[in-house]
Parts: sequence; C-alpha cells; structure tokens
Amino acid sequence: MAIILGLESSCDETAAAIVRSDRTILAHALAGQEDHHRAFGGVVPEIAARAHAELMTPLVQAALTDAGMTLDDIDAIAATAGPGLIGGVMVGLVTAKALAMATDKPLIAVNHLEGHALSPRLVDPDLEFPYLLLLVSGGHCQLLRVNGVGDYDRLATTIDDAVGEAFDKTAKILGLGFPGGPAVERAAAHGDAAAVPLPRPLKGADEPHFSFAGLKSAVLRAHETGKYRVEDIAASFQQAVVDCLLDRLTYSVDRMEPLPALVVAGGVAANGAIRTTLADFAAAQGMRFVAPPLWLCTDNGAMIAWAGAERFAAGLTDGLDFVARPRWPLDPNAAPARGAGVKA
Ligand code: KG4
Ligand code: ZN
Repeated sequence: MAIILGLESSCDETAAAIVRSDRTILAHALAGQEDHHRAFGGVVPEIAARAHAELMTPLVQAALTDAGMTLDDIDAIAATAGPGLIGGVMVGLVTAKALAMATDKPLIAVNHLEGHALSPRLVDPDLEFPYLLLLVSGGHCQLLRVNGVGDYDRLATTIDDAVGEAFDKTAKILGLGFPGGPAVERAAAHGDAAAVPLPRPLKGADEPHFSFAGLKSAVLRAHETGKYRVEDIAASFQQAVVDCLLDRLTYSVDRMEPLPALVVAGGVAANGAIRTTLADFAAAQGMRFVAPPLWLCTDNGAMIAWAGAERFAAGLTDGLDFVARPRWPLDPNAAPARGAGVKA
C-alpha cells in the first residue's frame, strides 16, 4: 500500500494531507486565509501566495505529526500544479519538489480539478469509472464524463462566470461577507425563493453550456430597487442557480449514453439545496448519487493526496522540471464553448 503526501495551495486554502491507497486518511491539516482577504472582499493573489509560503511548511509538519510519521514513511509527494492563482500554485509545487528531491521520492503534479473530480472515490470505494461529474467550484462549472484517471470528456462548461463566482459576487452585492457561498446559503434559509423574479440564463437553450453572469447582474438590479429583503434575494438567487443546473444537466443526460452514477464535486457541492436537487434528479434517472462530505468539497489536501494515490497506482509520476500551469483543462480536446474566453 502506498502512502502519499498531498499539498494544496491553488487558491486561499493552504493544506497538507497524508492518504493511504486503501482510502485511509492518516492526517489532513488545513489553514484558511479568510482573515487575510476579508477586508478586500475577495482573494488577493499576492497576499494568498505569501500566506501559502508562511503556512505550508508548518502544515506539512503538522500532518506528519498527526499521522505519527516522518518523511521516510511517505512513498510519493503530490501537489496541485495548476490551474489556479499561479503564485500560490508555485509555493505548493516548489515545496513538493524540494521534499521529493531531499528524500529521493517521486513527485506527482496534480491537476486541482482532477483532485475535485476523483475526491468522491476517496470516500466511496464502490464508485467506479465511468461516472458523470458536475464540477462546481469558485473557478469552474463543468459537466464531465470521467472515464478514468487522467481521462475526461468535457460535456459542458460555463460561457461566462463560474457558479461559485456567482455565489461570491451575490454575497458581495448583498453585503453578506466573504467567503460568499456559505453566507448566501445561510441567508437563503430565511428567505422566500419565489419573492424576487430572476432570470435562468440559457434555460431551455439547444446547447449544453451554463451561464451565470446575467443572473449576477439581475441580483444587483433587484437589490438596487430597495424593494426586497436580502434573505429573499439570496433565496431567489439560489433557486435560480438550482433551476439552471438542473435544466442544463437534464439537457445533457437526455442526449448521452446512460451512466451508472451522478457525482457532484467542488466547493459549491457543499450547498444543501444543490445537493438535494441533484440527489432527486439522480434518483429519477435511476443513477446512484455520490457527493463527498462537505469538508472534502471545498479545497483541501486530502483530495490532492488521493488524486496522487490514484496517479501513483497508475504509474504516473512527474519530473522535477514540471512547470506550474495557471490554466490546465481536464479535457484538452474540448472545443471552446460559444462566447467563452480561454477559461479552462
Ligand atoms: O472548490 P473550492 O473550494 O475552490 C475552488 O477551487 O474554486 O470552491 C470555492 C467556491 C467559492 O466560490 C465558495 O463561495 C463556494 O465554493 N462555496 C459554496 C458553498 N461553500 C463554498 N457555494 C454555495 N454554497 C455553499 N455552501
Ligand atoms: Zn477547488
């Protein structure tokens, strides 16, 4: 059995975890940076990179201590090598390279999105390839067919904002604070989802993609009228997101060969309303529904260590010359979506 150390630093969580190939999580240490970024209402890349540099080594030490291990016990060192805020990615990747070089152990450069994509398999030994994955995070909104490790077909993506970005911007507009997703969900719990008329971008469109930018602008306009309670706007926004996700998912599922399982991953997968809706949809389709526990949805080291374990088992390791990638699509062959920029 292989023991993998995994480092994550692509956004605003610094994390180190140790995972064994039999799915035992031996340690996972994580430090959020909310306090560093709150005053700015969003993640400031340079501040994030500095915080990662300060926190990473102590977190690796903490993970080793928690697991009762030394670096000698580790078989390979995995780190997020992109996509993400490049300063932060470089901190984690350089740390992993230094550890790999000093201990003469293999390096595994992990695509952060593959970390999210494979995370459900860490907690569900019965989840086999292929599966349908809705990947919803701060930077992405994609529907993927996961064929195997390193093998993805992108079926749909957002043509503008990521879904987590829409949550974060809505929180900012409504003055709900940072990070936005959980704050919007909390406010929505006390609101009326039918109170504020909001659009459902691309609902019913004859294409598979997602769009959220118009929704965010509509939230701003609704808020500026002064007519609505913040809780009602939050609830109406969350309902609009749920409706869009469901409509777009239905479009693709109706047109593809059936898959046994629907899986949701990424930070937005922590949202209760989205989880419930997807679970009901999967049940109606006769698909299994798999969602990682909340702590494994948002960025963490265990998902990177696990993706590292899966890659290690497949014989995939990387050279110390691996260069950090600010953009790194899971499916490099996917055609760009209409209207989309160069987002992965
Ligand atoms: O996967 P993640 O931790 O980082 C990225 O790789 O982007 O996702 C972070 C995103 C943020 O936009 C955050 O607001 C959102 O996930 N998020 C949520 C919830 N918890 C986190 N969105 C909606 N509801 C939540 N409960
Ligand atoms: Zn993420």
